Amino acid sequence: MSDKVAYLDLAAQIRGIRKEIDAALARTLDHCSFCLGPDVAQFEKDFAQFCGAKHGIGFNSGTSALHVAMKLLNIGPGDEVITTPFTFVATSWAISYVGAKPVFVDIDDATFNLNPALIERAITPRTKAVMPVHLYGQPFDVDAVLDICRKHKLPLVEDACQSHGAKYKGKTIGTFGEMSGFSFYPGKNLGACGEGGALVTNNADFAARAKALREHGSTARYYHDEVGFNYRMEGFQGAVLGVKLKYLAQWTQERQRVAKRYTELLADTPLQLPREAPFAESVWHLYVVRHPGRDELKKFLEDHGVGCAVHYPIPLHLQKAYADLGHQPGDFPVAEKAARECLSLPIYPELTEQQIGRVAGVVKEFFSKKK
Ligand SMILES: Cc1ncc(COP(=O)(O)O)c(C=O)c1O
Repeated sequence: MSDKVAYLDLAAQIRGIRKEIDAALARTLDHCSFCLGPDVAQFEKDFAQFCGAKHGIGFNSGTSALHVAMKLLNIGPGDEVITTPFTFVATSWAISYVGAKPVFVDIDDATFNLNPALIERAITPRTKAVMPVHLYGQPFDVDAVLDICRKHKLPLVEDACQSHGAKYKGKTIGTFGEMSGFSFYPGKNLGACGEGGALVTNNADFAARAKALREHGSTARYYHDEVGFNYRMEGFQGAVLGVKLKYLAQWTQERQRVAKRYTELLADTPLQLPREAPFAESVWHLYVVRHPGRDELKKFLEDHGVGCAVHYPIPLHLQKAYADLGHQPGDFPVAEKAARECLSLPIYPELTEQQIGRVAGVVKEFFSKKK
């Protein structure tokens, strides 16, 4: 048996549920509702329920859902939205797409999430919303952020794209703010067989307008109330996600098992291990360790057949696309240090005890050679 450990093994997940996926796709082929349709409608209901929300609206990606979230809040040119520089770039794309300015606030060193203590000083009269990210599966400090939002009368949007089912103080994330955006990109904890996303909210007006915006700004065919988008979820994706949602709680438990084992096995290494905040129940989308010698460790792992990845090598304020914001290295030192040190180890529900042991063994070998 090969002792290689893939960073991600989507095939292993599909193998376990292949018959159900085949049957669901066949049903979609029979009724031919390829854009939205009954599979998407059913999934929207089930996913909203999973989040404890009144409304779930299916999208063709998480990016689209977050873009529409900005539209629902009527954010536009001249406005500012506070967010984290340490996330996937789609978080700030949503802000940029409506012509607003992403205003970055540095992160907390222990959790990689936006540091609430730094938000207030970034608020200006142009600030229109706060959009932190539940990064890597771990909720940000919701109450601390909400206190500031309430004080300044600012809406909160949760970027929940990496954190399906994560809990903050025992409550599933997704309805703490005005709305939240989820991604079903294939490698996510709940992943489609293609692109997908959802907007979740308790607000009926937002839900109705989100449905119109994803369909060309239309509630009745060929009548367009505002400029909209083609952001519909495909029927096939609704069908696949409906099958997979039934397994999500079980898969999350498996991810928690893997994270716990890594934490036990790597405890006596020089790595800074990921920490769950006391208020958080992480769904462990990623297991991200830190070390100043990250690049060397990454190469060593890869040379020994262990897949790993970097989320994310360049914080958003230093991306070329945002050069016009005029940021310099040193503006957000905690995010910049995290970007230099972070390394994502393989984590998925199907990872075996032997594979976890192999990953930990190679990490330990790296450090023993350095002595
Ligand atoms: C934090 C975060 N925000 C937004 C997105 C965008 O989601 P999608 O890739 O479905 O457009 C992703 C995922 O890729 C993400 O990880």
